[in-house]
Amino acid sequence: MHTGKREVNSGYQLYVEKISKQGQNKLSRPKQIASHITHALKVVLCIPLYASFVILSTAVISYAYIYIVCSGRKASSSAQAIKYIKRFAPIYPFHLYPLVAKSLEMYYLCDIIRVQHAPLVFEVAIGDGYLSKSIFGATEVFGFDINPYSLDKADGKHIRQKVVANCLRLPVMPHSGATLVANNLMHHITDKSTAISDWAGKVGRLVFNENTIYWATSWPLAALAKSIGLTKTADEIVQQINNTNMQTLLSKPELDTLVSRLTGPCKTYSYYSQKVHTISLLYSCLFTAFIQPCYGPPTPAVFKRVIEYFPPVEKLTHYLTELVAAALIRLDAIEERDKDVFVHYDCKGLCTQIQDVKEAVLSCPDCMSPLHGQDCPKCSRHFQVINGMLFLCDEAVASNYTPEASASIPKHHL
Ligand SMILES: C[S@@+](CC[C@H](N)C(=O)[O-])C[C@H]1O[C@@H](n2cnc3c(N)ncnc32)[C@H](O)[C@@H]1O
Ligand SMILES: [Zn+2]
Repeated sequence: MHTGKREVNSGYQLYVEKISKQGQNKLSRPKQIASHITHALKVVLCIPLYASFVILSTAVISYAYIYIVCSGRKASSSAQAIKYIKRFAPIYPFHLYPLVAKSLEMYYLCDIIRVQHAPLVFEVAIGDGYLSKSIFGATEVFGFDINPYSLDKADGKHIRQKVVANCLRLPVMPHSGATLVANNLMHHITDKSTAISDWAGKVGRLVFNENTIYWATSWPLAALAKSIGLTKTADEIVQQINNTNMQTLLSKPELDTLVSRLTGPCKTYSYYSQKVHTISLLYSCLFTAFIQPCYGPPTPAVFKRVIEYFPPVEKLTHYLTELVAAALIRLDAIEERDKDVFVHYDCKGLCTQIQDVKEAVLSCPDCMSPLHGQDCPKCSRHFQVINGMLFLCDEAVASNYTPEASASIPKHHL
């Protein structure tokens, strides 16, 4: 749906430029001192924060199980997502939102949609690749991302080629045997129709998820303002949340209409209710309040490093975080599905061009002709490979890319 609004996705290009610049310019002395002081402050704050973490965990677990028992409702099969928590707990200690959301995503992707059996995957917005590595084994994956500093971290035998590209217009030749997978990208795109129709024309199957409007309206402050009748304030908070997170959200009916207009037949699955999202965010805000500015949902590295020094504390942290996440996944499994925050689409693509299953061909991002190796024979452009990544994008992204800036980004940061 192109609304003439500013394309939120352009924020990503600016973000990549910013990281490159930071890699080139060292922090000034006063900024270095300020950063050390903030760091020390966070370390000191760990003790009271930890006490709050234990109290809060007990409260959330008690609430969830009492609510489940009192409701008398039967849990849906999504409670099985609990089995994926262990995989994500070390990456997101103290931080329920990504832990619960990604465990549920894994359940839908691997147990219901079974995308891991697709023979050839174009994974767009693969990011740091941790989710991808958790999903795919024998599948051949072409991993695309606009941000070389994220893509740099993606690893695993399943990745055949890493490509730095703007995937709103995917640089691949049409291939009916390919499946396009996009996890946690669509909300960062305003003009969703153009991206979806580009993808649908290039593959035989599309599997992607999206956040609904409840992603933003569930934030504790917005929900509070709305509940006491401050509707205009609530709307302003929601707008602010969407701007900060570079996203444009639609309701599920709007999304369903949009997707069904642009693709073949679809199956849809929604999960992670508004209530569970509010609780997850409330729980995590003790720690995530320190994410300034907010990019992606990681647990701030300083908290992970502090607990690593004390293995019993680290063990307790993972154990407690896992227990709370399991309680929330069980709570989510008994929820009505009308106010879900996530929706997953598994759609037939419109591409009918059959090729050898694994013979994917990349295309020039300018003229969309097939590439010969690193070259476009039609417009005579040569594309660089740096650190194993093929840069199918503006020259400047490759020439500004620095290994120093890349080293400043943690392996798991999304
Ligand atoms: C929220 S992260 C999701 C990463 C990964 N799929 C996951 O779920 O963990 C969004 C990713 O989308 C990438 N991205 C944003 N806009 C993009 C675009 N136009 N083309 C390709 N990647 C894009 C970002 O660089 C980032 O890695
Ligand atoms: Zn070309």
